Amino acid sequence: MKIELLKNKVFCCDDDKKREIHPFWLRERVNGKEFVDNKTKQRLFDPTKLENNIEIEKLKISDNFLEVTFKDGVFTKIAIKNIIKEFLINNDFKSIKKIKWDSKFKDCKYFNYEKNFFEGKLMIKALTNFYQYGFVIFRDVPTENNYLVNFANSIGSIRRTNFGEYFNVKSKPNPNDLAYTSLPLAPHTDNPYRNPVPCIQLLHCIENNVTGGYSTLVDGYTVTEELKKKIPEYYEILSKVKIRFQFIDQSVVLESLAEMIQLDKNNNFKQIRFSPRLDFVPLLEREKLELFYNARKKISELYNSDQYKIEFKLCSGDLLMIDNHRLLHGRTSYDVNEGNRFLQGCYIDYDSTEGKLNHLKRKFNL
Ligand SMILES: [Fe+2]
Repeated sequence: MKIELLKNKVFCCDDDKKREIHPFWLRERVNGKEFVDNKTKQRLFDPTKLENNIEIEKLKISDNFLEVTFKDGVFTKIAIKNIIKEFLINNDFKSIKKIKWDSKFKDCKYFNYEKNFFEGKLMIKALTNFYQYGFVIFRDVPTENNYLVNFANSIGSIRRTNFGEYFNVKSKPNPNDLAYTSLPLAPHTDNPYRNPVPCIQLLHCIENNVTGGYSTLVDGYTVTEELKKKIPEYYEILSKVKIRFQFIDQSVVLESLAEMIQLDKNNNFKQIRFSPRLDFVPLLEREKLELFYNARKKISELYNSDQYKIEFKLCSGDLLMIDNHRLLHGRTSYDVNEGNRFLQGCYIDYDSTEGKLNHLKRKFNL
């Protein structure tokens, strides 16, 4: 991609396209110290107060900078790489490609917690790994004083829910969720009844000295792409019908209407929701419901099949970070008489990981 000038017009060109850049787009990006605050990088002027018909008086390219003089007398120099970067962001916002995986997945990397961990290059690798595979495991994370909260807030900000700032996952009397028992948990996504659904779950193992209690993960992206290929009519109904997810306890009723397979505006994978103990399909015509039930049964079989599931044991100090819009998670049962299994969990949203990754890339000039 490159920048070309022609008769006081600026063009952005790549192999097959030549697009004119609107003069106002450039005028908004003037960057002298009288126009932009150096610290916050926020504008010191309000572009909505400018006339829209801004014109260019003079143009020049020198030393990788575009020099523009506008007819209102304002002059600016803009780095060409910054202009190109904005075009690339428009074309491919999520530049880290998802890598599909199934039960044969062997590339599980562990990232050891260390001093200055949140500001170091290792965090870039860990977050990149997270965006590729939908999960990442950190090791040797301190287990004292609910350190999970500190960990989450050092990446971004905790997303508090009615379960609190964080939650303790261990069996307890009179639980309000099956998570707080020693029963096996089939693969599911968390909190599909919220709007918006928490993006990322952090699960920190404080202790796990039982023989069972393995953690399980399934890549919902892999499974739904398989379903799309093999049984498109099932994929279609699960990505079209909005169902009601519901959570009820003594103090709250949470409901959200959404598809089990949610697609983006280009009909590509966006998010899955799967929690068959709390989903309620609307009263559709009999044939449609017949198809829906068959499709839900099939996707449940796939999510629960050994073909897609990985199983591993979290040890004290391990912290698992899961993309709750892409992956399903669960656990095998355990015997409470054998010892303790104690995990702490919390949620953060994508702005946390994206913000951290962008900050570190800026810091290390990547
Ligand atoms: Fe869960």
